[in-house]
Amino acid sequence: MRGNKRFLTGIIVTGMVSGLLTGCNGEMQTAERKNIKIGVTLYNQYDTYVSQMMAHFNDYAAEKEEETGIAINIEVYNASDSQSTQNDQVKEMLSDGCDVICVNLVDRTEPTTIIDMAEKQNVPVIFFNRELVEEDLERWEQLYYVGAKAFESGIMEGEIAAETFRENPEVDKNGDGIFQYIVLEGEAGHQDAIVRTEYSVSTLIENGVEVEKLGYAIANWNRAQAQTKMTQMLGEYGENIELVLANNDDMALGAIDALKSYGWEKEEWPVVVGIDGTDVGLEAVKNGEMAGTVYNDKEGQAEAMLELAYALSVGGDLSNLPLDNNKYIRLPYEKVGPDDVENYMK
Ligand code: BGC
Repeated sequence: MRGNKRFLTGIIVTGMVSGLLTGCNGEMQTAERKNIKIGVTLYNQYDTYVSQMMAHFNDYAAEKEEETGIAINIEVYNASDSQSTQNDQVKEMLSDGCDVICVNLVDRTEPTTIIDMAEKQNVPVIFFNRELVEEDLERWEQLYYVGAKAFESGIMEGEIAAETFRENPEVDKNGDGIFQYIVLEGEAGHQDAIVRTEYSVSTLIENGVEVEKLGYAIANWNRAQAQTKMTQMLGEYGENIELVLANNDDMALGAIDALKSYGWEKEEWPVVVGIDGTDVGLEAVKNGEMAGTVYNDKEGQAEAMLELAYALSVGGDLSNLPLDNNKYIRLPYEKVGPDDVENYMK
């Protein structure tokens, strides 16, 4: 059951909109706030997970407006995979007077320009989903991160695969007692890609499953790229592939697209496991195409980001928010299988 939805409802940062407030550009304001402005820049607006998270961010902002009577203006920019475009967008949002800026970094190793610009104007920055290194987040006290613990998702994916192997002897197609696998990886250098790959495999081994890696391919979180890479690997390893560990649901679905166009019956498919629990991913678990997925709590993360952005904009009390080290909000992942998938569907 999705336990995290509305995780903050009981501890919502209320009011605090009159009195001394720090507005954009660090000016102290005494007037009651009638509206706030939040700027958001996305590394790529066509990313399935990020776009579904943003849709919830907007819905939740509308609820928050009703609850508080404060208009929440949200400006969303698409950086289209370019860090320099994203830097320009942040510059524009700062000159537009945004109270807070939410950044889904294109290159998580390149946050310096953004941090320097925001600090100069005293506008807080919430990074999300694409985690910068701790040293960068420590560079100024008004920098935050909202996301999840990547290693948890890898462990859960490995557990789903191990359970499937133990409970369904037929998935060991050649009967050698070894789970032959391939990995479809997200972008090189993305914290979730590196960590999910490592932990999913080590968890299978820790759970007593002997594994053999046949191959891997980087498919940049993308369904079409995953289909192409999977088609190549099917050509190379064919029915020796017993398990596809995908770093996210979109790539798991790309693998399934490849299996379908390869013309195999479903019974001949390898086990496919994903991560995210996007709408399409959940559908594939429900119809038995994927053995399971790991829910990456986009609603929880969107709500946490909105609550934090709101509190920072109105000068609210942050002590009600589940901030670690005054900087991090990380939501837990959850395993999803055919038995409980309906609880996660809209
Ligand atoms: C998600 C991926 C997404 C990526 C974008 C990951 O946390 O699992 O689906 O493509 O973030 O940064």
